[in-house]
Amino acid sequence: MIYPVILSGGSGSRLWPVSREQHPKQFLSLHRPGVSLLQETAQRLSNLEETGTPLIVCNEQHRFMVAEQMHQSGVSAQILLEPCARNTAPALALAALLAVQIDPDAELLSMPADHVIKDEQRFATAIKQGLGLAQQGKLVTFGITPSSAHTGYGYIKRGQADGEGFTVSTFVEKPDPEQARTYVENGNYLWNSGIFLFGANAYIDALRQYAPDILEACEHAFASRQQDLDFLRIKSEMFARCRSESIDYAVMEHTKEAVVVPMDPGWSDIGAWDALYDLTAEGEDGNAVHGDVITDNVRNSLIRSESRLVAAVGVDHLVIVETADAVLVADRNDVQATKHIVHRLKEEG
Ligand code: GDD
Ligand code: MG
Repeated sequence: MIYPVILSGGSGSRLWPVSREQHPKQFLSLHRPGVSLLQETAQRLSNLEETGTPLIVCNEQHRFMVAEQMHQSGVSAQILLEPCARNTAPALALAALLAVQIDPDAELLSMPADHVIKDEQRFATAIKQGLGLAQQGKLVTFGITPSSAHTGYGYIKRGQADGEGFTVSTFVEKPDPEQARTYVENGNYLWNSGIFLFGANAYIDALRQYAPDILEACEHAFASRQQDLDFLRIKSEMFARCRSESIDYAVMEHTKEAVVVPMDPGWSDIGAWDALYDLTAEGEDGNAVHGDVITDNVRNSLIRSESRLVAAVGVDHLVIVETADAVLVADRNDVQATKHIVHRLKEEG
């Protein structure tokens, strides 16, 4: 049976100033009023056949927000609390260790909490296609046809057809711009959607082979788990010693068992303000406007007001995001660098 795992421990710094450490992007309603990205992810599961209780892996600081949002959405989920962020390889290791206790043949469907998927039916079909491969011990990725040489994604070169998918001949996580351009021109590369399907035991085996230190640290940490009301808590000293690494670098770049199932469900990773612009821009002027905003002769811009009236005149290709205590003004091409501002603010205290 498929056990969905929603990874909800990221910080979302490129969506500052709306996304904050205490309230990162996955808990915000960014494109659908009243529905957060996490809630949208959890609701997506209702389109899948025969899934077990979903597991949400998140930072302990966010436990009440996760519980409250799941309650509001009517989704009953298990919530596993990390004492600190160690990226996705350890988060999934904890999920796998928990799943094999319930069902040694469990398949994990790992879903980031910050994706928008427009066509839920196509998504459900792709997962169905991947299931047979996962049951054969493969680590299944879902690949998206690239629309640009984006450097924030993993790139998968597809090989031979293998059942409902293709073997992965190369997996390169976050290539440099030059590499990314050659991959897109090549035509045989797909973006890694960041959604994975694999047997919990197959993932544990892959960690044992390619990142045994991560597996060992997580096994120790998992052994110290405690049920705390509705939460399963990992004790901090053990987990903090684990290396911080994503599944992409720790396992997917190395494994021989990877396969890719192409899918085209209108997928976006809401990584930065430009992605939200692409998703929500409309009309002749191509603006994406949210909240109390007034514009005159403004084009191709995202303007978002959270607390005050924002007026913009005669500007093009800008991102303007207003909150009660901070305002971001950026060229739409440069919004990835918003995270540098967040780092500087942290350093300067
Ligand atoms: N529980 C937990 N703990 N979750 C985490 C942690 C952590 O320490 N770190 C990140 N996450 C969650 C994030 O909240 C997000 O939902 C998901 O894991 C993926 O992390 P990102 O940090 O957003 O990864 P990325 O976007 O840079 O890259 C991944 O996704 C791309 C597609 O969106 C990779 O898989 C790329 O290869 C892929 O192309
Ligand atoms: Mg992401």
